[in-house]
This record gives sequence, structure tokens and C-alpha cells, in this order.
Amino acid sequence: MTGICSGHVAVVTGAGRGLGRAHALALAAEGARVVVNDLGAGPDGQGTSADPAQEVADEIRARGGEAVAHRGDIATGEGAASLVTAALETFGRLDALVNNAGFVRDRMLVNLDEDDWDAVVRVHLKGHFLPLRHAAAHWRAEAKADRGPHARVVNTTSGAGLLGSVGQGNYAAAKAGIVGLTLVAAAELGRYGVQVNAVAPAARTRMTENVFPEAMAAPPDGTFDAMAPANVSPLVVWLASAGSAGVTGQVFEAEAGRITVMEGWHPGPTADKGDRWAPAEAGEAVRRLLAGARRARPAYGA
Ligand SMILES: NC(=O)c1ccc[n+]([C@@H]2O[C@H](COP(=O)([O-])OP(=O)(O)OC[C@H]3O[C@@H](n4cnc5c(N)ncnc54)[C@H](O)[C@@H]3O)[C@@H](O)[C@H]2O)c1
Repeated sequence: MTGICSGHVAVVTGAGRGLGRAHALALAAEGARVVVNDLGAGPDGQGTSADPAQEVADEIRARGGEAVAHRGDIATGEGAASLVTAALETFGRLDALVNNAGFVRDRMLVNLDEDDWDAVVRVHLKGHFLPLRHAAAHWRAEAKADRGPHARVVNTTSGAGLLGSVGQGNYAAAKAGIVGLTLVAAAELGRYGVQVNAVAPAARTRMTENVFPEAMAAPPDGTFDAMAPANVSPLVVWLASAGSAGVTGQVFEAEAGRITVMEGWHPGPTADKGDRWAPAEAGEAVRRLLAGARRARPAYGA
């Protein structure tokens, strides 16, 4: 297959279902050879079922593409390292890493168990860090051997991480952490030819279809299926391609036919006393500053 990723090799985590599956199929349709990772976890990360990684790899091959399945847990050192090794041993190179795997365990903070905090932060934040770290070590070695890679990382954040989301303290904290990780990785890895961006998607998957059934439903009349996961993939594929040269450290929202650049934190109104404030005096200054500040968007569900 030829396209904007021809000759390149991409790894997609959590690619057995939902958004990851759509990204893997779209990358293959643009000529990438794909390592399809998925351990087949349940919607809350528990258990393993079927073999969705193999099914998607088979689907890519049936469409004339090249793919291999990888069933490791990307939040373990062994799973993340073997993911990068699978790309190098099967296809001889690695050009793009799409970090996507994850699950939710939603609870209000007062009911959020320590285990549910740990599991969700682990799969998203550590599950982004470890594949990124192993891929980056490979690309640094390539750069040092003068094989100057044009490598790409696409991370998956969420509106929950950007604005907050009621009932998702664990998930929102992890997804906000992924934005911080993206900014650091973009700043550190540019010298090795690696670009790192993040996408906050919205689409109909098992993560969302029961929470927002009406908003996520496919139209019965065959018109544009706005919430199909495949609508998010074109941006991911472009960011993963050589064509995105110069775009790094950015966060995008992608939903239906819309792509939005998310603008980060900027200093707003400020006051400098030139000396230490008394607490009550600091409070008065803060109230004056807030009166002139842009109002923050509310958290989802607030
Ligand atoms: N669906 C949305 O609207 C939406 C919105 C914002 C962010 N996201 C993010 O998009 C990503 C994909 O979510 P989705 O909606 O496609 O969900 P999904 O449940 O359909 O797919 C997630 C996949 O990740 C796999 N997975 C889970 N833990 C894993 C692990 N440790 N190692 C390897 N694979 C693992 C699961 O088996 C599953 O196939 C997630 O990071 C999610 O937080 C989704």
C-alpha cells in the first residue's frame, strides 16, 4: 500500500478496539507496517478476553497491508520493551509510536479506592512513559549512529485531563500528566529528530457508548457518522507521518470533522508588590486579578 506513511513502521498501543484499532487501520491504509498491541483487557482493565490484537493484524493483512500482533501489557517494562523489539525484529525499523491504550474506573473522589487510582494512573501515565522511553532510547541510538530518524510520537490525552471531569479524578490526573509528559518529551527529544504531540479525541467506543448513548449514536440515515473513531485517525496518521515536520509539543482536540489546536497555559493578569504580601492583602489582590481574568471553562459534568 502507498500513502503518506509508505515504508514506515508504526506501533499502536491498545489497537485491538476502539480508537487504537481505527488508528492502526488508517496507518496501514497510508502504507505503514503496523505493530498492533493489545492485551485484550476488559473495559475496567480487568481480565483478558479474545485476541483483539491478532484480529486487527489479520484485518490489516486481509486489506493488503502488513501487520503483526503484540499482546504485552504496555505499562510493564517487559511489555513496553518487547513492543519496540517487535517492531525492530519484524520490520527492521521504528518510525512512529501511537500511545493509546487505557481504561477507566470512574468514581467520585470520596468513593475512589486506592486500587482504582493506581490502576488508572498506571495504565495511562506509566503506559505512555514506558513505550516512549524505550522508543526514545532506540531513536537516540539511531541519531548517534548518524542515521538521523524522523520519528514521531502521538500521545492520547482527554478533555478530562485538559478541563477536569466530575467522577474521573484518577483518569483526569493521568491524562493531564500525559500533557506534561508530552511537553517534556518534545523539548528533550527534538535533538534526536523525534516529534511528540498529543491528541484529545472524542468518539464512540466501549468507553463512551453507554455513558453518552444519544450523542455517540450513528445516524440511522447513512449521513456522516460524526462519532466514528475513524474520524480521529486522519490527524493521528498525519502527526505520525514525515509530513508533520516542525509540529511538536502541541495538543489537539479531534472529534467528528473538527480539529482544534488547544492553547496551553498563558500568564493572565498579574500583580507584583515588590515585597512579601500579607495574606489578607494577597487575597484582595487575587480578587482584583480574577475580576480581569478570562473565565476558565468548567470541568465536564460540573
Ligand atoms: N472514546 C473517547 O471518546 C475518548 C475520549 C478521550 C480519550 N480517549 C482515550 O482514547 C484511548 C482509547 O480509548 P477507547 O475509547 O478506544 O477505548 P477502548 O476500550 O475501546 O480501547 C482501549 C484498548 O486498550 C487496551 N488496553 C487496556 N489496557 C492495556 C494494557 N495495559 N496494555 C495494552 N492494551 C491495553 C484494551 O484492551 C482496549 O482494546 C484511551 O487512552 C482513552 O482514554 C477516548
